[in-house]
Amino acid sequence: MSIIKVKNLTKKFDKKIAVDNLSFEVEENQIFGLLGTNGAGKSTIINILTGLLLPDSGKIKILDYDIKSIEKIRKNIALVPQSISLYEDLTIYENIEFFAGMYITDNKKLNESIEKTTQQFKIKNLLHKQVGNLSGGYKRITSIACALAINPKILFFDEPLTGIDIHTNQMILQMLQQLRKKMTIIFTTHSIKEAENLCDYVFFIDKGKCFLQGKTNNIIQNFVKQYGQNIIIKFDNPKDTHKIEKYFKKSNLSISKMKYSGKNLQLNVLDPNFGIKDIFNLSKKTSIDVCDIQIKQPNLESVFNKVYKK
Ligand SMILES: Nc1ncnc2c1ncn2[C@@H]1O[C@H](COP(=O)(O)OP(=O)(O)OP(=O)(O)O)[C@@H](O)[C@H]1O
Ligand SMILES: [Mg+2]
Repeated sequence: MSIIKVKNLTKKFDKKIAVDNLSFEVEENQIFGLLGTNGAGKSTIINILTGLLLPDSGKIKILDYDIKSIEKIRKNIALVPQSISLYEDLTIYENIEFFAGMYITDNKKLNESIEKTTQQFKIKNLLHKQVGNLSGGYKRITSIACALAINPKILFFDEPLTGIDIHTNQMILQMLQQLRKKMTIIFTTHSIKEAENLCDYVFFIDKGKCFLQGKTNNIIQNFVKQYGQNIIIKFDNPKDTHKIEKYFKKSNLSISKMKYSGKNLQLNVLDPNFGIKDIFNLSKKTSIDVCDIQIKQPNLESVFNKVYKK
C-alpha cells in the first residue's frame, strides 16, 4: 500500500528549477532512498513532504490526506533535518521533551518515550547536558532522538549520518533495520553503499529529475542481465580450463565473454542467479579441482556509474 503519493511535483526558486515534474510513490514500511548529487533537490523534496515548503505545482498525498491538510498529517511524521536545529541553551532532555511534547500530550507517555529513546541511543548519562556544549555527532544523535521520540508512522531522514562516528553510524543503521517493521522511512544519503544495504527502493535524482529508480535488488539484477557479472575460476591444471570452457559452451548459460589465460578462466555471465554453488556443481560433474573463485558482482555503484551522465 502506498503511504506517500507524489504526482508531477515541481518547485522553483526564482527561475531555478529545484524539483522538476517528479512522480513517485512510497510503500508502507519501505525504506525509500532518495539519492543524488549536491543540489539535486533531495532536501527540497523532503521539506515539501514535511510541510516546511510549499510546492509550485503537483499533487501530494500522505497517509491518504492531501498535503494541503498538513495539520492532519503532522502528528504522524517526523523529520531529522539536514541542518541540525536544536535549542542550544536547553539540555538534551529538554529538547526531546519540547519536540516530542508537541505531539505527545500525556505526560506519562512522554516520559516513557524519552526514557526509551535515550536508552536506545545510549545518551542517558548526557541527558542534562546543554546541547550547545555537545560535540557535532551528539547533536545529530539528539536530533534523531527528538524525531524518534514521537514514534512517527513516517520518518524523514535528511542525511542523518553526516558527522557521526563509525560505531554510532552502525548502531543507527541497525536501529533503522529494526524500525522498518513499524514505520516507513525516507532516507537521503550520499553513500550509495549505505543505500544499497539499507533501502528497499532507491530514487536517484539530478537537477530535480529522476534518472534511475526501482527496487534495489531489481536494479542490480537487471544490470547483471544486461552487462553480466565477471567471474574468474582458477584450476590446478591449466589443461582443465579447456574442458571447463567446453562445459560452459554446452551449457545453456548466457555467457557474453569467455577467456582463459594460464590456470584462469574468465567469464562474463548474464545470469544474476549464477553463483559459487553452480561452480561447485560444475567441479563435481567434471571432476576438475577448482582452486579459487572470484565473483565480481555489480553493485548499486556500478549501476550509478553506468547511467549517471554529468
Ligand atoms: N531556499 C532556497 N532559495 C533558493 N534556492 C534554493 C533554496 N533551497 C534550495 N535551493 C536550490 O535548489 C536546488 C536544490 O537544493 P537542495 O537543497 O534540495 O539539494 P540537495 O539535493 O538536498 O543537495 P545536498 O546534497 O547538497 O544537500 C539547489 O540548486 C539549491 O541551490
Ligand atoms: Mg540536502
